[in-house]
Amino acid sequence: VSASDAASSDGALKIGALTADELADHYGTPLYLYDAGGMRSELARLRHAVADFADIHFSIKANPNPAVVQVFVSAGAGLEIASGAEFLTALAAGCDPARILFAGPGKGEEELALAIAGDISEIHLESFEEIETVATIAGRLGRIQPVAIRINPLASAQGGAMRMGGRPAAFGFDEESVEAVLAAVAARPTLTLSGVHLFAGTQILDARVLLAQWAHAIRVAAAVARLSGRPLQSIDLGGGLGVPYHAGDSPLDLAEVRAGVPALREALAAEPLLRTSRVILEPGRFLTAGAGCYVSTVRSVKMSRGTRFVVIDGGMHHHLGASGNLGQIIKRDYPLVATAGRPAETAADAVPTMLVGPLCTPLDTLGRQTRLPPLAAGDRVAVLQSGAYGLTASPVGFLSHPTPAEVLVDGGRHRLIRPRGRFDAPWQPPCPLPAA
Ligand SMILES: Cc1ncc(COP(=O)(O)O)c(C=O)c1O
Repeated sequence: VSASDAASSDGALKIGALTADELADHYGTPLYLYDAGGMRSELARLRHAVADFADIHFSIKANPNPAVVQVFVSAGAGLEIASGAEFLTALAAGCDPARILFAGPGKGEEELALAIAGDISEIHLESFEEIETVATIAGRLGRIQPVAIRINPLASAQGGAMRMGGRPAAFGFDEESVEAVLAAVAARPTLTLSGVHLFAGTQILDARVLLAQWAHAIRVAAAVARLSGRPLQSIDLGGGLGVPYHAGDSPLDLAEVRAGVPALREALAAEPLLRTSRVILEPGRFLTAGAGCYVSTVRSVKMSRGTRFVVIDGGMHHHLGASGNLGQIIKRDYPLVATAGRPAETAADAVPTMLVGPLCTPLDTLGRQTRLPPLAAGDRVAVLQSGAYGLTASPVGFLSHPTPAEVLVDGGRHRLIRPRGRFDAPWQPPCPLPAA
């Protein structure tokens, strides 16, 4: 198996050309392993599906390790950021500020000033206060700042596991209030309206839902362009493309996405004010989840009243999502495998296992009666589908354990991109600018 292929569990787990075990021997555990080739191939697959329609920006929040961001920048992707620190990461990865967008519901003045002074291409406005703040900062810096308005769409075009629009939400302006928003933007000479941004939900596995949302976004963009009386430069359709995590999940069908693209292109062509608009997708999860795994070592195995508990050296403090505490309604296991191989689902010796971490809370459970080989102390287990919202979305300070190492594998090469460390001593790996 490879970390990019969660479905199969025959043979030893491989990342690129290397086994998880040899990497774990070298770097120790707990450890995140990322496969640069897997990330590039997901980007290429998505590009193929939306060719001639959308430009792809990687949403840094899914995996902000500078070396991971650099993989996408080197492959020509733009970036979507949600903080000043992510802006600096984007620049350090060599991204042209003209390829960076800034979205997020509560941006601070300092980070806005940093991005505006740094020539960011577009700021996505999400509140009336933000319109004023961005306009004032742009004025102070003597700029005219291109802005997009983020719109919280009507409930009619919804879907996905975690809805981020279509109901009362902190994200963007309600679709119903667009006229007032346009008036507020138009009243500020230091702002220029360049686009609209809609992002209705994350972890969408149904291509039809995604296509319906994109079609709705184009209708909203057309209405905004007509109201403003000017062409729009950009239409950001958001991220939200899902990946299969749980038994029974089917991957997003990119062929179905591709089949739906001509109708979207026609919708754009039908509106003169959108004919020259650049369509943007800003996925995070889809591009990195499958290319990462989280490897830990078994510390002890014990039976408690008939239930087998396997205690590992990693847990929810490094990987909140895998523990089911990242907002899922139902706690279901991420795909888990023994790194040494031994097919977990089919092996005659597989046993139902409670896979738990070292924290003093029952929340620190990564596997609930998962069938795994009869692991012993010293064996290793990997959580697949862990390249997105892993370390970055986890409570690393909880119980003050060391943070895990992160390693980037590229074919047969591997390098440490974040060493194990104290949670309160963050370390930024060097991220040299690529040669011109
Ligand atoms: C504005 C914005 N763009 C993109 C993303 C990335 O979403 P996903 O990882 O589901 O593609 C998010 C996630 O929260 C977001 O808030």
